[in-house]
Amino acid sequence: MFKKLSLSALLALGLGAGAAQAAGDEVHIHDTDFSFEGPFGSYDQNQLQRGLKVYTEVCAACHGLRYVPIRTLGDEGGPHLPEDQVRAFASQYEVFDAELDDYRPATPNDHFPVSALDNAPDLSLMAKGRAAFHGPAGTGINQFLKGIGGAEYIAALMTSYTGETREQAGVTYYENTAFSTGWIAMPPPLVGEDLEFDDGHSNELHHESEDVAAFLMWAAEPKMMARKHAGFVAVSFLILLSVLLYLTNKRIWKPIKHKEA
Ligand code: HEC
Repeated sequence: MFKKLSLSALLALGLGAGAAQAAGDEVHIHDTDFSFEGPFGSYDQNQLQRGLKVYTEVCAACHGLRYVPIRTLGDEGGPHLPEDQVRAFASQYEVFDAELDDYRPATPNDHFPVSALDNAPDLSLMAKGRAAFHGPAGTGINQFLKGIGGAEYIAALMTSYTGETREQAGVTYYENTAFSTGWIAMPPPLVGEDLEFDDGHSNELHHESEDVAAFLMWAAEPKMMARKHAGFVAVSFLILLSVLLYLTNKRIWKPIKHKEA
């Protein structure tokens, strides 16, 4: 029976991977091995810190992260910045305080600012709102192993500009093969070597893109690790329970099944 079971599990895995490939080909998004994928994946703290830098120095000029509290930058499992850095980060923003009826410097308890540009969408949940790997015949197993590909989508969006532009009703559109309509109103935000990292990490375009994509994945799902951990504990418990129930069942029926002997 176990042979049969493992065979069908393998088959299901194969099907999942196949479906993902088919979907990936359609939208020109290739899979990236992010550290947070798979049942045991976790965020890479250094990558999140680099992503935060890319976000703050480039994307924040237009986009907002209105649902993300600044204090969560200090969370373990996230960028895990020291407290003084979180406070310093917050103080570069101003928020309107209704009680004071005036602007004041932000504190870690405030959220990131909203989008500065009207037509730039808020990015708080973007990594979960977009998916690269929803195959038409997906089994779900692929998503279990690789996620839905929101981070891959964002990384691909940064690197899929063709350089073509066109103007329509006074708006400039940039050709981008990862974007659903093929023409996006966002000018190429990254070109590579846009900023320097303190640890000397590569600032090639695809590395910057992956870092900011990982950061936005964390922004959209800051508790991913806790969720995976709880899932692991629950599944281990259920497996143990199944084994015990199986043995108990055997034992209870033993005197009846072996009566004639
Ligand atoms: C100059 C302003 C500007 C900057 C800087 C900018 N964006 Fe955008 N972004 C936009 C606009 C405008 C749109 C809406 C485009 C559209 O819908 O055609 C957009 C859309 C997006 C989308 C959503 C695409 C979708 O599927 O709807 C993502 C993701 C995104 N930007 C990520 C980023 C990241 C990451 C950075 C920083 C590396 C960044 N943006 C920097 C203006 C900007």
